[in-house]
Amino acid sequence: MPQTIEELTSRFRTPRFEAGPGGLIRAGISNPCADAAIYLHGAHVAEYRPAGQPPLLFMSDRSLFEAGKPIRGGVPVIFPWFGPHATDSGAPMHGLVRSMSWRMESAEQMPDGSSEIGLVVADTAETRRIWPHSFALRLTINVGAALKMSLEVENTSTQAFSFEAALHTYLQVGDVRQIAIVGLAGAEYLDRMDGMKRKTQSPEPIRITCETDRLYLNTTAAVTIDDPLLRRRITIEKVNSRSTVVWNPWIDKSKAMPDFGDEEWPQMVCIETVNAKENGVTLAAGASHTMTATIRSRLH
Ligand code: BG6
Repeated sequence: MPQTIEELTSRFRTPRFEAGPGGLIRAGISNPCADAAIYLHGAHVAEYRPAGQPPLLFMSDRSLFEAGKPIRGGVPVIFPWFGPHATDSGAPMHGLVRSMSWRMESAEQMPDGSSEIGLVVADTAETRRIWPHSFALRLTINVGAALKMSLEVENTSTQAFSFEAALHTYLQVGDVRQIAIVGLAGAEYLDRMDGMKRKTQSPEPIRITCETDRLYLNTTAAVTIDDPLLRRRITIEKVNSRSTVVWNPWIDKSKAMPDFGDEEWPQMVCIETVNAKENGVTLAAGASHTMTATIRSRLH
């Protein structure tokens, strides 16, 4: 049974729980370091604003807020496959858990002033019908001077399984055509805009000049976005993630996405912390894997 606002409020002293759009329950966090909003639906961080700074995450004005549908913007959690399913075209894009109702398991105020929230989800009869394995996921979110998210995957079945995963962060930028993305020089990537051809990133910073959808492989590097309009630098650091996705839908794809505004693409870029394709993870029965993304921004 999904948790109710009453149950959550009586179990946890903070954060505050409320019904957001579509009646979806969200936790509102305000502490000396930052403000944030986290939905139980998808364990979805939809807002994060470090104190004294503009919001760091992009949220589409056209996002759906509906059971069974993903939220557009913020940080969708992707598991157990990334992108379209490899063999089953009827399976949902980006796996199963971004549209599931998660449970809040812990909420703590930390000594450094940050707030730490733990959300969990596990396989159901419905997920096993599509993906025949048992799993337990825990997303630990630390809302502090940085936004830190750790996705722990535990294999609770009796056999090994392989999975892909992503923390699909939508970042707010002044104008995507003016940003410079640094940290992926020399990395190999699969270019979804060019039939998944394998290419090598040139040494210069990446500039977004058209629809861009790239899966960088075998890279653990931090990525920095230099944003001259918002006068800030965003850094995405990661642990136990070997792939990074860079995505901007540009003009035509924006028009084709019903839950994304036609004119919203200049205000966002996704720099995603991923394990996909050859960087997918195989987990023995009983074993766990934790992938972490830490995002911080500095004004200049
Ligand atoms: C990105 C993928 O991670 O997510 C893109 O690389 C995809 O190919 C995008 O279009 C958005 O996916 P969705 O399912 O949220 O529309």
